[in-house]
Amino acid sequence: MSQHHITLVIGNVNDRSRTKVLAQALADALSAALPIQLTVLEIAALTPVIGVTSNPQELAPAGRLAVQAIENADLVVAVSPVYKGSYSGLFKHLFDLVSPDALVDRPVLLAANGGSDRHALVVDHQLRPLFSFFRALTVPSAVYASEADFDGYTLKDGPLRARIAEAVGQAVQLLRARRASGQPLRAVA
Ligand SMILES: Cc1cc2nc3c(=O)[nH]c(=O)nc-3n(C[C@H](O)[C@H](O)[C@H](O)COP(=O)(O)O)c2cc1C
Repeated sequence: MSQHHITLVIGNVNDRSRTKVLAQALADALSAALPIQLTVLEIAALTPVIGVTSNPQELAPAGRLAVQAIENADLVVAVSPVYKGSYSGLFKHLFDLVSPDALVDRPVLLAANGGSDRHALVVDHQLRPLFSFFRALTVPSAVYASEADFDGYTLKDGPLRARIAEAVGQAVQLLRARRASGQPLRAVA
């Protein structure tokens, strides 16, 4: 079976990052379920590349490739730290460069990582509306992690792992349905 192109966008600002650990757990679960080709975009590394422009035509080649990897993916996995009750501004800046029509009907798996459970609905109240703008097919089950789900920078066993499995199962169904419907795979640049 041919591979599914998955682009994982990680909104981490620091290299040592629980958001990255959560994103890796999602990537591992997807790769256990499907043959995948994974492109990882880390905001910490990308921000100097995408700079302050609002015009994708002005991007340097590396920035353009990053935007294309989002626009051409079969599945986008969007994982942000929670900053001030929302996704981070740098994470949003990357999606501001994505064409408004590029993600129509595209499966998108949403996840966030915050300091506490106080902002657990950030995925449904902040991230999901962003992808509603793009008319994407967001995976119904939201994934939210907080410090209590980690032992340092290691994900603990517990309900979060079950939620990851649930969300990944839904993403896999969406990917298979898209392929069965005969929609062509889009080449990742
Ligand atoms: C500027 C800033 C704002 C934050 N705002 C929130 C918040 O509103 N709600 C929350 O639960 N955690 C908040 N946090 C905590 C982070 O979400 C948490 O530390 C998270 O693990 C950071 O991700 P990282 O480990 O990938 O850096 C904030 C942290 C920073 C630095």
